[in-house]
Amino acid sequence: MFLNSKVALVTGTGRGIGRAIALALADEGARVALVARSEDALAETAALVEKRGGTALAVPADLTDPASATPVAERAVAGLGPVDVLINNAATVEPLGPVTGMDADAWTTAFRLNVITPAALAGALAPRMTKAGWGRIVNVSSGIVARPTTMIGGSAYAATKAALEAHTVNLAAELDGTGVTVNVYRPGSVDTEMQELIRREGEGRLDEATHQRFVRHHTEGTLITPEHSARALVHRLAGDATGRIWDVADPA
Ligand SMILES: NC(=O)c1ccc[n+]([C@@H]2O[C@H](COP(=O)([O-])OP(=O)(O)OC[C@H]3O[C@@H](n4cnc5c(N)ncnc54)[C@H](OP(=O)(O)O)[C@@H]3O)[C@@H](O)[C@H]2O)c1
Repeated sequence: MFLNSKVALVTGTGRGIGRAIALALADEGARVALVARSEDALAETAALVEKRGGTALAVPADLTDPASATPVAERAVAGLGPVDVLINNAATVEPLGPVTGMDADAWTTAFRLNVITPAALAGALAPRMTKAGWGRIVNVSSGIVARPTTMIGGSAYAATKAALEAHTVNLAAELDGTGVTVNVYRPGSVDTEMQELIRREGEGRLDEATHQRFVRHHTEGTLITPEHSARALVHRLAGDATGRIWDVADPA
């Protein structure tokens, strides 16, 4: 229970990896603020946290608007107290498709959700963490940054996650020595709705070999569970490492 008495804010907690991270943090004693758009999904996650003896607060918000960051942070602090742990997990894999004919508005939305709002949340919450002399910020990225050609037709997603990682390492240097660590987490290929969307929507939008590989990962059962990925992340929060690119496959 190394997070006893700590408060965490996790985005994208209505399902998938974010929900599993919220539960893993609650298992370590943290009180957890839950953020996503679907109030019903957040209520389900909150009920799961409470069933395990934890405390959760649902903060519904659409994070494609970076202006949501300050009110989200304030609602979490008002409901649970100063936030010690921020996990920026919510993201979109859209728009899928070739760059020829790209929808610039959809790219802008992806950058807002995947890069700008995570930075804005860190900006809103880091001052309290540095004042306390302890904090943990993690930005959930993707292995696509190391291997961009593994998802041909996923150029927007690759670009947002590369930008997120550059921001993360830069912010780690900015906060170095404050007690606040800032790290990237690449969660692996995880059996979630995002994978389902890629299998369903990717045909004809991703290149064929890419789409087939995503289908194969599912049929061959090589996807890992959200719980596996979440536990591998939460264990890492006990250490003081900062500016790292963590991958689920790497030894902790
Ligand atoms: N699954 C994988 O294999 C995989 C691989 C590499 C990286 N990742 C990364 O891991 C993270 C989690 O992925 P996942 O697979 O768990 O995704 P997911 O199943 O699609 O879940 C995404 C969560 O984010 C929320 N969300 C989406 N858009 C939002 C918005 N505009 N405002 C607020 N919340 C929003 C969703 O809830 P609402 O729709 O209700 O808002 C949901 O709770 C993402 O950063 C993803 O890029 C996943």
